[in-house]
Amino acid sequence: MPLSPPPTDMDLRRAMAMLAAHGELAEVKGEVDWNRELGTVAREVLRRKGPALLFSNIKDYGLPGARCGQLATGLLAGHRRISLLLGFDDEIGNHELVQHVLRMNAERIPPVFIDDGPVHENVVLGDDIDLRELPVPQWHHLDGGRYINTFGAVITKDPDTGSVNAGVYRGMISGPDKIPMLMVPSQHWGRHWAKYVQRGEPMPVACVYGWHPVMDFLAGSPLPPDVCEYDVMGAYLGEPVPLVRGRTVDLPVPATAEIVVEGFISPDPESYEMEGPFGEFTGYVSDVPTRRPTIQVTAITHRDSPVFRGTLEGSLPGASGENSYMSSVQRAAIAWQTLKTAGVPGVRDIFVHPVNNGTTIVVQISKVNEGHAKWVASALWASGAALYRYKYVIVVDEDIDPGDYSATDWAIAYRVRPGTDDIVVFPGTFGSPIDPSTPLEERSVDDLGAGLWNRMLIDATKTWRFKPQPQWNGARFPPTVAPAAEDLAKVRERWADYHFTGWDGGR
Ligand SMILES: Cc1cc2nc3c(=O)[nH]c(=O)nc-3n(C[C@H](O)[C@H](O)[C@H](O)COP(=O)(O)O)c2cc1C
Repeated sequence: MPLSPPPTDMDLRRAMAMLAAHGELAEVKGEVDWNRELGTVAREVLRRKGPALLFSNIKDYGLPGARCGQLATGLLAGHRRISLLLGFDDEIGNHELVQHVLRMNAERIPPVFIDDGPVHENVVLGDDIDLRELPVPQWHHLDGGRYINTFGAVITKDPDTGSVNAGVYRGMISGPDKIPMLMVPSQHWGRHWAKYVQRGEPMPVACVYGWHPVMDFLAGSPLPPDVCEYDVMGAYLGEPVPLVRGRTVDLPVPATAEIVVEGFISPDPESYEMEGPFGEFTGYVSDVPTRRPTIQVTAITHRDSPVFRGTLEGSLPGASGENSYMSSVQRAAIAWQTLKTAGVPGVRDIFVHPVNNGTTIVVQISKVNEGHAKWVASALWASGAALYRYKYVIVVDEDIDPGDYSATDWAIAYRVRPGTDDIVVFPGTFGSPIDPSTPLEERSVDDLGAGLWNRMLIDATKTWRFKPQPQWNGARFPPTVAPAAEDLAKVRERWADYHFTGWDGGR
């Protein structure tokens, strides 16, 4: 089912209308408190497998003249929504979705600059700036504050090359015009930041809240550092992204973005503000408040009647959020690209379950040599995309459906021999600073630059070290209990003749 026709939903509003037309978005008209209640409603809707939400009656933000009274969330929470937003007529299967994303991540349609756009219908400067005029939730009762950057695409520029990056990085309101941010040096904006620090100059930043969700889908995914996400967004949408320049920073933002916050981050540690803790994608509120690089806001620009965009972070079994769903697709596609680039042969399918966002990845191969699984794992662990992901790599044979947990479990149960190199631990690698199973001192970004992850490969393929056995028709593993093909064919043909009583015979 190819893209038909190319989508023209080039902003958040049209994307939301399209989702609503497919029954995938509901408006919440009853009053909801931004303080803990909104986040709790969002979690309960995730648990009930409900739609994306537009909150339009947020306590303290409903008065006439309020700067912003609406918040959209959950647009990417589910594979049907992701399929629709990527231009398909309905939900497509995981394999097809991953293949589409793999293809589109490699295509480019550069953006176009236009003189001005709706994002500048309102420009707030100087003493008028107050981030609390936006309906930013206290998403979770244990969060350190109101998290404004949950699904904001943060735009920065390399001061040497001028190349532009968009990334999703968390940030909390610490004052009317201040946003301390979690700055991880190995992320692409972290590399830009290192250059500004070296120059002793503040880094210009623009945070975009609310545009077509392909922006969040791509900004929240590790495309290669030299790739500008705007080029890839254009490819996904089939037309160039229309951009305007910020009012106080020389950075490009979508002309039809809902809200943009512009500012600078000073390299002076004295300017850092306290940030954290935050209910993270791991499903834990596991880090400690720390003074972090802080955006000093120089402008808020927005459309008339803007919609603020945010997301409830955090995977929980049965109630995972949109980062989990988009990561299950993107992290599989990016792993596939990594294996292709590394020349690893025989990759047939890749599966990431939404609940772990790609911390665990299952790769199905047609095995070409006994070391094949280690080839897969070492290629994945060598890529920059492994920073927060691929802690567990499970490799299975072609007869195991990686998307079927019971099949993977069976392969681990009977094709893996603990104590052999079927299980390989690779300790002390760069990795997630927010995994609660790592001791706090080993996930200090300040001390170590990144978390230290012990990674594990589970090679659940049938080992070639076993000699082929004549009694098993020359196979290395015994036959399974699956019926002989000819017996099964005969039974299926005669199915109706068995006259099951009390059962319709199934499918
Ligand atoms: C909802 C959401 C929240 C995220 N929060 C953070 C964060 O706080 N810090 C971070 O370094 N990465 C965070 N990420 C992951 C990054 O967005 C991701 O690694 C992306 O690749 C960053 O862009 P970059 O590769 O251009 O640096 C988040 C992703 C999503 C989807």
